[in-house]
Amino acid sequence: MQKKLTVGSLIEGKQNNIHIENAIVEKKTVEKQEKRKTKEVEKKSIEIEQHGRRYEVQPEQNVSVLEQALNQKVPIDYKCKKGSCGKCEVTIVSGHGMLSKRTDEEIAKLTEPTHRLACQAVFQQYY
Ligand code: FES
Repeated sequence: MQKKLTVGSLIEGKQNNIHIENAIVEKKTVEKQEKRKTKEVEKKSIEIEQHGRRYEVQPEQNVSVLEQALNQKVPIDYKCKKGSCGKCEVTIVSGHGMLSKRTDEEIAKLTEPTHRLACQAVFQQYY
């Protein structure tokens, strides 16, 4: 944000105040933006269910639900990580919109539209 210069503000001695005020305004703006981003990321997560247990997984762009869940110590069953065994099948309770489209392996293996293979579902967008 630029501060308007006035005749009074050009008087020697006031210059430093303008720089300080500008720095304060910029710092506050950056802090607000960071706070907003943090809130958005905190709010966004997907909820998955496997074997009757529900877990929340925080998104990470271009990372699979399985990898992200494992990174967050979420105990999901899995085996091949290639989309062939079907062991990582989960129900997406909320957050479908943040995930990639179903892969051919998922279409072939899964009958329920809310089910995904955690190793094949990739976070695409979370902000
Ligand atoms: S781990 Fe085998 S299909 Fe996902």
